[in-house]
This record gives sequence, C-alpha cells and structure tokens, in this order.
Amino acid sequence: MSSSGAVHLVTGAASGIGADLADRLEERGDRVVRLTRDVVDLGDAAAVLAWAAAADLPRLDSLVHSAGTVDLSTVADLDLETWRRQLAVNLTAPAVLTAALLPALRRARGTVVFVNSSAGLVANATWSAYAASKFGLRALADSLRAEEAEHGVRVTSVFPSRTATPMQQKVHDQEGRTYDASRWIRPSTVTETILHVLDLPADAVLPEITLRPV
Ligand SMILES: NC(=O)c1ccc[n+]([C@@H]2O[C@H](COP(=O)([O-])OP(=O)(O)OC[C@H]3O[C@@H](n4cnc5c(N)ncnc54)[C@H](OP(=O)(O)O)[C@@H]3O)[C@@H](O)[C@H]2O)c1
Repeated sequence: MSSSGAVHLVTGAASGIGADLADRLEERGDRVVRLTRDVVDLGDAAAVLAWAAAADLPRLDSLVHSAGTVDLSTVADLDLETWRRQLAVNLTAPAVLTAALLPALRRARGTVVFVNSSAGLVANATWSAYAASKFGLRALADSLRAEEAEHGVRVTSVFPSRTATPMQQKVHDQEGRTYDASRWIRPSTVTETILHVLDLPADAVLPEITLRPV
C-alpha cells in the first residue's frame, strides 16, 4: 500500500535493515530523511539534540530507529568506552531523538518503530552491553507507548533474530565463526514487517513483533 506524501525518518539508513527500508519507502513515493553517520554521530547525544532542534520537520509519519552497534565481550573484559558507545547509540540516541521529534509525530499521529533484537529478550554470555541496551530499548518503547496513546502516536518494538547484514558479519568475526548469509533472516523480511507496522489501519497497534529464522 502506498502512502505517498508521508514523511519518514530512518536512522541507520546507510546499510542493512535501515537502508533497505529507506529504499522501499522511497520507491513507493514517500519522503525519507536518512539519518546516517554523515549527518550525525548517534554516539553523541548533544549532537543528536542539536540536529533535531535544527531539523525542519513540521510532521513526521514515522520514526524508525534502525541504527545500532554491537561489540561482544565478557563482562570481565568490557571496557568503559565499549559500554558507553553501545548504550549511547542503541538506547540514549533513540530516547532523545524521539523526545525531540514528538511534536512532529503527534501532528501526524505517527508511528515509532524500535528495531530491537532477540538479545533484547534474552541475554547470553558475551552479549551483556548490547543486550542491556536492547532491554532498555524495550522499556523505552513500553513507557512511550503508554504515554503517547492519547496523542495517537503508536509504538512498536521489532525483535529480529540474526539477520544477514554487515552487523551480523561483524558478529560472526567476533565469534570466530564462518559467515553464511543464507542461514539468516533477510533484511528485506524485516523491512516487510516494518512496512506492515507502518501501514496498519489506525484503529490498532502492534506493540511487539518477534522474528526468527525458520
Ligand atoms: N543483523 C542482525 O543480526 C540483527 C539482529 C537483531 C537486531 N538487529 C538490529 O537491527 C538494527 C539494524 O542493524 P543492521 O543489522 O541493519 O546492521 P548494519 O547494517 O550494521 O546497520 C546499522 C547502522 O547503524 C549505523 N550506526 C552505528 N553506529 C552509529 C553511530 N554512532 N552514528 C550513526 N549511525 C550509526 C551504522 O552506520 P555505519 O555503517 O556508518 O557504522 C549502520 O548504518 C540494529 O539496531 C541492530 O541492533 C540486527
């Protein structure tokens, strides 16, 4: 379904799920603001706030948080900068960006999608910092959904398992495993799921969706 004229902001739109989603939205005639690293470093909350304050977005039909970063390590070996970066990019940036753009989202009765992770539901060994950021992201989504329902803003968390993107290739490198993209969910499948969320009629919300490889 096309919603030409709609305006979307997609973070992490330079690669993987975010790039695929931005391409699909543009193909159907929607306007997409691609928030890539060239535009703003999501690890720098002050820079994110400054960008949002200067952004000229009278209305926003959707805000899709797809940017993310992962570095595997045991708790014993995690250094402060690795903790800080994962929490900043995966949790703080989505929080402050959403807050800054809420007026534009409310005007459009828009939708906020947080691309979470199966690691936002279960934390395995060596995944603590990433999982903590994604558990936090789920909490952020739940609070925001409860707060914004009265303004007509819908909030969805999507929890994909391993998906064939540059991030998954990096994870395999860190795990010392051979990467075979055909084993994992295709980014286009996650995109289809997000498009379904965005196109859902306005009388219902999909609070959470979990995606697993077959
Ligand atoms: N791939 C998986 O297996 C998987 C599974 C579950 C959930 N997820 C989640 O899915 C989302 C999309 O990831 P992906 O799989 O599509 O991986 P990806 O291709 O690596 O995309 C992540 C994007 O985030 C951007 N990013 C990272 N740090 C940034 C920063 N400091 N400032 C601005 N942008 C930054 C990256 O930009 P650069 O290229 O410039 O670094 C990249 O475009 C993430 O939230 C991830 O946690 C992925």
